[in-house]
Amino acid sequence: MADKSSSDVEASLLAHLNSGGEVPDSRSYASSLGVTHGELGDVIKSLSAFRIVETAEITKETWVLTEEAKGYAASGSPEAQLVAAIPPEGASKDVLKEKLGSIFDIGMKTAAKNKWIGFEKGNKDLVFRKVDTINDELQEQLKRLESGEVLSDKMIDDLKRRKLITKEKSIWYALKKGPQFVAKRKKLATDVTQEHLRSGDWKDLEFKEYNFGAQGQPIAIGYVQPLLEVREEIQNIFLQMGFSEMPTNNFVESSFWNFDALFQPQQHPARDSHDTFFLEAPAATKQLPEDYLEKVKEVHQCGGYGSKGYGYDWKRDEAEKNLLRTHTTAVSTRMLYKLAQEKPFAPKRYYSIDRVFRNEAVDRTHLAEFHQIEGLICDYGLTLGDLIGVLEDFFSSLGMSKLRFKPAYNPYTEPSMEIFSYHEGLKKWVEVGNSGMFRPEMLLPMGLPQGVNVIAWGLSLERPTMILYGIDNIRDLFGPKVDFNLIKSNPLCRLGLQ
Ligand code: PHE
Repeated sequence: MADKSSSDVEASLLAHLNSGGEVPDSRSYASSLGVTHGELGDVIKSLSAFRIVETAEITKETWVLTEEAKGYAASGSPEAQLVAAIPPEGASKDVLKEKLGSIFDIGMKTAAKNKWIGFEKGNKDLVFRKVDTINDELQEQLKRLESGEVLSDKMIDDLKRRKLITKEKSIWYALKKGPQFVAKRKKLATDVTQEHLRSGDWKDLEFKEYNFGAQGQPIAIGYVQPLLEVREEIQNIFLQMGFSEMPTNNFVESSFWNFDALFQPQQHPARDSHDTFFLEAPAATKQLPEDYLEKVKEVHQCGGYGSKGYGYDWKRDEAEKNLLRTHTTAVSTRMLYKLAQEKPFAPKRYYSIDRVFRNEAVDRTHLAEFHQIEGLICDYGLTLGDLIGVLEDFFSSLGMSKLRFKPAYNPYTEPSMEIFSYHEGLKKWVEVGNSGMFRPEMLLPMGLPQGVNVIAWGLSLERPTMILYGIDNIRDLFGPKVDFNLIKSNPLCRLGLQ
């Protein structure tokens, strides 16, 4: 609106007060300066913060124009616009309607009431003007109101009835000199510039004080997904317990490593395409360790190592089928096979946390891809007691110290146990993982020495994350529907402290 800068406004206001002038109402003062009330308001706030001026708030209700009325103030009332649209020879209603659009009806009504228009006898459709000039009172009133004039009660009532004005609350100020009043505010310097140093005027400058209480700008940084936060915490627990990480960087796996090497028979329902995503290209794996493959085939078909095996015709084709790994136990199997090739045998503790894939119907608690956490210990003479002990250590570090175990079945472990933990928040036992001791039919064909056992367990990363963050729909945690604000505002994750 105005081309006055805020320092001009400030100078005028201070000069006005200095010469004894009064400002009983900031709104009319703003219009006398030719600036908006908002622009003056900013200056007032700054001056009153330094107590250079003292303010008293005046709350006033004023009438303001509706959007419709603003249009009439600018282009004329509907009735005036209608009259202006009628040529001396008159015009048909249709033509006028076309020209005026939505204001045609009100324009006709009011213009007829004002006797500005008439109709031809016998032809109600032709409208003609009855007057040469009109006085557009409505437009005039609206303009007066807009510029801050006070209208008579009757006028206000009329405008209210026509729904052309609404009441608005506004805050104005009455101003007077404050205790720190100065006729001219010294501009405090905020920086020492090259200019200041060169000219030497820095010696006379007054500097603005530092505001140590001011909040800094929020820094635009990256945010960590809750799953990654929990993953890191769990990773730290494994590392503290002396585990090393297994390489999980292959989502594509052969059925051999995902199932066969785990002594999972080829007819097992999990190997169905309803449960597993098989690859179309490349559909089959090229390389498998031949000696080992023969031993796996043998144990499936005829058994050995004290086992009867499954007694079916094992097919290489089936083992070669490529798939998206359905569990990270495929990685554990590869690692155990590798370990078995290293002589002499050395005990190991391994863990992994990475993505797995299952052909599942997606719902509140299931996704077709999720993350698994897996831990295993490989050593001579391990027992179920060792497994229970290590699970208690591991889960209590996660903040779950009350555990219960339930016998379960996995093709590759015997015995197997489901792990339950008492959830204090939910006040019930919830399943948190699966575990067991790998079968001799899995370990001995690999070449691990007799007497070496492997205790292992697995759980999803999503489950504890949902419990910790109070998320009840897995799709809010992972996948395309995740709200970025959840990630931006998620609290730090500290396991074991809740
Ligand atoms: N592989 C199992 C699963 O997918 C978890 C598991 C790992 C069970 C290790 C026993 C031992 O649920």
